[in-house]
Amino acid sequence: MTKITMDTIVNLAKNRWFVYAWSEIYGWLANAWDYGPYWSLLKENIKNLWIKEFVQKKTDMMLLDAAILMNPNVWVASGHVWGFSDPLIDCKSCKKRHRADKLIEEKFSSLGWWEVNWIISHINDNYNETQDYLNQLTKEANKIINWDFEEFKNIYKKNIINKEWNERIKSFCDLFIPCPDCSSCNWWEIQNFNLMFKTHQWVTDDSGTEIYLRPETAQGIFVNFQNVVRTSRRKLPFWVAQVGKSFRNEITPWNFIFRTREFEQMEIEYFCVPWTEKETHQRWNKDCENFLVNVLWIEKKNLRFREHDPEELSHYSNGTYDIEYKYPFGWGELRGVASRTDFDLKAHMSHSKQDMSYFDPVNNRKFIPYVVEPAVWLTRLLLATLIDAYSVDETGRAYLKFAPKVAPIKIWVLPVVKKIWDLAKEVYAQLAEDFVCEYDEVWTIGKRYARFDEIWTPFCVTVDSQNYEEWKVTVRFRDSMEQEVVELKNLNKYIRNMMEQ
Ligand code: GAP
Repeated sequence: MTKITMDTIVNLAKNRWFVYAWSEIYGWLANAWDYGPYWSLLKENIKNLWIKEFVQKKTDMMLLDAAILMNPNVWVASGHVWGFSDPLIDCKSCKKRHRADKLIEEKFSSLGWWEVNWIISHINDNYNETQDYLNQLTKEANKIINWDFEEFKNIYKKNIINKEWNERIKSFCDLFIPCPDCSSCNWWEIQNFNLMFKTHQWVTDDSGTEIYLRPETAQGIFVNFQNVVRTSRRKLPFWVAQVGKSFRNEITPWNFIFRTREFEQMEIEYFCVPWTEKETHQRWNKDCENFLVNVLWIEKKNLRFREHDPEELSHYSNGTYDIEYKYPFGWGELRGVASRTDFDLKAHMSHSKQDMSYFDPVNNRKFIPYVVEPAVWLTRLLLATLIDAYSVDETGRAYLKFAPKVAPIKIWVLPVVKKIWDLAKEVYAQLAEDFVCEYDEVWTIGKRYARFDEIWTPFCVTVDSQNYEEWKVTVRFRDSMEQEVVELKNLNKYIRNMMEQ
């Protein structure tokens, strides 16, 4: 079997109405994509299936749609203003900007970022001595896994804004890291670059009018916690879900739509009594795997669970589990469940001076709830669904094997002969009341079948004059290639039943 590469997927997506390069007529904006007709539909289908599965079918789940632009103090409280940044380094020779941590990680792939940081903190100005030390560490990489990274992280956090520390990293890069663009080892000091996109409210652009495009949807749920409790009258535990766009000024977006500056999140915040949060992890892992495998038809062998190491955890988390997908470039995150403790509600309570606690009438006590955040990134689900659906038939032709509920187009309506075009359009109108269909009168029947197989439309309805005289049409099934004659008056119900099977 030929290995699928990201290039195969990108080319297929570009050629089959899935994706367009953003602002292409102006020469494109790097790493930004517009979703074309099929991917827009696929995205809506996945989003709606997710809402059906995790909101509609649950008794304790509510949907929210908070604004993208929020009061900037939200991001001060959440920690994003001070902590949501990447260490960037500029090449003095070619002026290109890079992420210092990524460059160092790539160069010393057997060592982690934290190990390399440790080395940097102990760097010696003598190249040979530092090189010897590095060689020795690289050889013994396994042994250093037991180092005390927690202690190191504290030193790092204290020093990251420290001039001397930044100069150390610069010397390290000057010694060992050639610029990927011009190969020279000639760097400026590291700068911490905040990933939030800034904009200005009102017409002036002084710092008083500065606001941010949200980097995550979660905070829209936290700041509304008291509103939800008051208006829904729900008792703990309950869930609040949100789907929406987030923005991050990534310096190195990569791998097609895997990491982009504008992306869509589907986040859920589960508010519960403190220390009961761990119980939900298992339930969520199971529900989520079920959604990926049975609803989206992503193969189980391409999914795996991974628990975050303590040193990977975000500042708000006391435990995180991911489901990773086997992308053509390797295993990567598809969704995560983070235990966020009471970090966010406490932070908003302290900054806003508003009460964020919950009163439990049964036990007559007041406390700040704990939060578990199971979240899926819609943009990555789209990518994983497309990659997993990619198949090649015995003639070498690529097609996309989508689940019928996920498929962008459900039914292809084909008139067999020209004189029946108007009647076929009536059949299309009847089906379009319930399903996204395509009407096609252009090619020969054989070519039209081939087109509908290519994007794996689950059903094809052919209209011929003989059947139509008896108010009937023929339904052809993509998977079995079988055909069945169905009465027009039952057609929509018949297809709906077939979709459920
Ligand atoms: N509310 C929690 C949160 O946003 P995060 O780890 O900052 O947590 C969540 O981001 C996930 O969103 C990431 O682990 C990744 O899967 C996805 N993600 C982050 N940045 C992304 C980007 N630039 N493009 C696509 N997906 C991204």
